Amino acid sequence: MTFTDRHFEEVRKAQQNAYAPYSHFKVGAYLLTKDGKAFHGANIENAAYPATICAERSALVAAMSQGYRPGDFASITITVDSDVISSPCGTCRQVLKELCDDDMPVYMTNNTGAMKKRTVAELLPLGFSGKDLNINE
Ligand code: THU
Repeated sequence: MTFTDRHFEEVRKAQQNAYAPYSHFKVGAYLLTKDGKAFHGANIENAAYPATICAERSALVAAMSQGYRPGDFASITITVDSDVISSPCGTCRQVLKELCDDDMPVYMTNNTGAMKKRTVAELLPLGFSGKDLNINE
């Protein structure tokens, strides 16, 4: 699946729902499923800072809560309120590893419309997964 203007428009819409009164750093996520459904995510902060939920995880949890499962996701697009492109935090990389295919594209965008693409495996090389827990296989 390739990156289009639609991805950018939708992720910027998703970003508008960010709740970021502490960092003022609004992040949006636009998750597409292989069967053509779309989920928006945004960062939802908390006065107890570690309770903050990132945009990527908001979108993935929304989709999983509707019944989507690992293997169902086609791409995720992320945007930040900056002229510099950001990439997902470590926790989000681990959740992407758990729920998405290793070769799924992660499109990273910013205020300028610039885009950088990496796969899930490129963002978390040698990542830990459920496969590592099957110690008797
Ligand atoms: N944030 C995300 O939503 N996704 C990331 O991958 C990096 C960080 C949010 C969390 C917090 O609300 C704000 O950005 C500043 O860290």
